[in-house]
Amino acid sequence: MFKLVNYALPFAVLFSSVTFGHAQTSSLTIPKALQAEHHELFDALESATKAGGKAGEAAQRAMAVLKPHFEKEERFALPQLGALEALTKKDATLPNDLRDDLIKRSEAFRAQLPAMLEEHKQISAALHAMRDAAKQEKKDDLVELAEMIAAHAAMEEQVLYPASLLIGEYAKALADRK
Ligand SMILES: [Fe+2]
Ligand SMILES: [Fe+2]
Repeated sequence: MFKLVNYALPFAVLFSSVTFGHAQTSSLTIPKALQAEHHELFDALESATKAGGKAGEAAQRAMAVLKPHFEKEERFALPQLGALEALTKKDATLPNDLRDDLIKRSEAFRAQLPAMLEEHKQISAALHAMRDAAKQEKKDDLVELAEMIAAHAAMEEQVLYPASLLIGEYAKALADRK
């Protein structure tokens, strides 16, 4: 077990396993707010796949990419963000085990990143079709959902993915200093 020097955070908070769908993936905890957002969007899209019409068909196409994509994010991108709060506390130190784990995770995420960005494009194309069809079919909640998932992907590309990579770079910089 890691020793967290100067950390007020209990082990159970920082180091418990996370699950999404069937995947049991990590010893770092994905921030609850992010996990909740994923579940909310996933459940809403799952309902949309049963909406019928062209909007429902487009939702099914979006879901075919989104499900494995979310699982990848929860495995490769988001767990590192669970260390963010603790790492930014005043006088926080990074235990070697956690530092090495973060570096490894960050490298794995970087290797997956091009494919994940490509998946965003595929999801976006399906969402465009879903939004257009939902407008035609007067399914306002599906129009809104398409926009929410698109905003989620943009937020990831602009904030969450870079923040996750930055944590890896920070861990690497600390390792190089030794
Ligand atoms: Fe996501
Ligand atoms: Fe994403």
